[in-house]
Amino acid sequence: MSYRFLSQIYDDCKNDFWIKNSHFFSFYQSNQDKSILDLGCGTGLSIQHLKINPCDYIGVDCSLEMLSHAKNKFPEHSFYNQSILDFHHPKRFQLVICSFDTINHFLRSSEWSKIFDISFSHLKPGGTFVFDVFTEYDLKFNWPNQMNLVDSKNWVYIQRSSYDTDKEMGIIDNTIFLRSKNGWDRYDEQIRNISLNSIVVENLLRDSGFQQIQKIDFNTGKSTTKETERILFYCIKG
Ligand SMILES: C[S@@+](CC[C@H](N)C(=O)[O-])C[C@H]1O[C@@H](n2cnc3c(N)ncnc32)[C@H](O)[C@@H]1O
Repeated sequence: MSYRFLSQIYDDCKNDFWIKNSHFFSFYQSNQDKSILDLGCGTGLSIQHLKINPCDYIGVDCSLEMLSHAKNKFPEHSFYNQSILDFHHPKRFQLVICSFDTINHFLRSSEWSKIFDISFSHLKPGGTFVFDVFTEYDLKFNWPNQMNLVDSKNWVYIQRSSYDTDKEMGIIDNTIFLRSKNGWDRYDEQIRNISLNSIVVENLLRDSGFQQIQKIDFNTGKSTTKETERILFYCIKG
C-alpha cells in the first residue's frame, strides 16, 4: 500500500469526495462534544471540511508523506504516524471516523475486526463510529473496467483498477506524472483492497460491541441494495 507519490496531488484530485459527501457528517456541527478520532486521516481533508478545532482532533496515519501534508496544513492539530492497528490512546472520543475506503485497504477480515474493536474502545458511551466501504459488487462489476485520468498544469494522474478473482482482491495501479525542470517524471505505485459482505461486516461490528448499526447507500442516501457500490456505516456505542 503506497501513497508516497499520490500524496503530492491527493488534495487536488480527491477533495471532491469530501465536497460531495460532507453532508453525511452534518450532525457533527450540532454535537456539543466535538472530539473526533480520524483513523487513516491522510492529508487531513476531514479537518477542513468538518471545520474541526485542534483541541478536538487526533489523526492517525501510517503514511509519512500523507501526514506531512496534513501537518503542513494544520500545524496545531495532533497527528500520530502509526498503523491504525497499533493505535491506543487514553482519550475517549464522541466521534471516530475512518473515511474514504480506508478500511478496504486492510486485506484480512481479522484486521477489519481489530479496527472495529479499536474504534469501539476509543468511543465515549453514546459516541458514533462512521466509516465507508466500497462493496464486493463494486469490486467485481466496476473495477475490471475502470480507468480514470485527471490532469492539471503540473501533473497527470492515471488510475487503473482491476480485480483478481482468485485472491478476491481489487488492485489500483496509480501512475503519476509530475512536471520537473527537465520535463515529466513518471511514478508508479499500487494500492490493494478487499471488500467483505455487508452482513459479515455487521456481524463483526456486533462482535466488537456495536448494537445500533445503520447502513446507507452512499450514492443514493437510501437503504442499501444488491447493487450498492459504497456503503456508509453509522454505528453507535450504546
Ligand atoms: C483513501 S486514503 C483516505 C484518507 C482520508 N481518510 C480522507 O478521507 O481523505 C486512505 C488512507 O489510509 C491510510 N492507511 C492505510 N493503511 C493504514 C494503516 N494500516 N494505518 C494507518 N493508516 C493507513 C493511508 O496512508 C491513506 O492516507
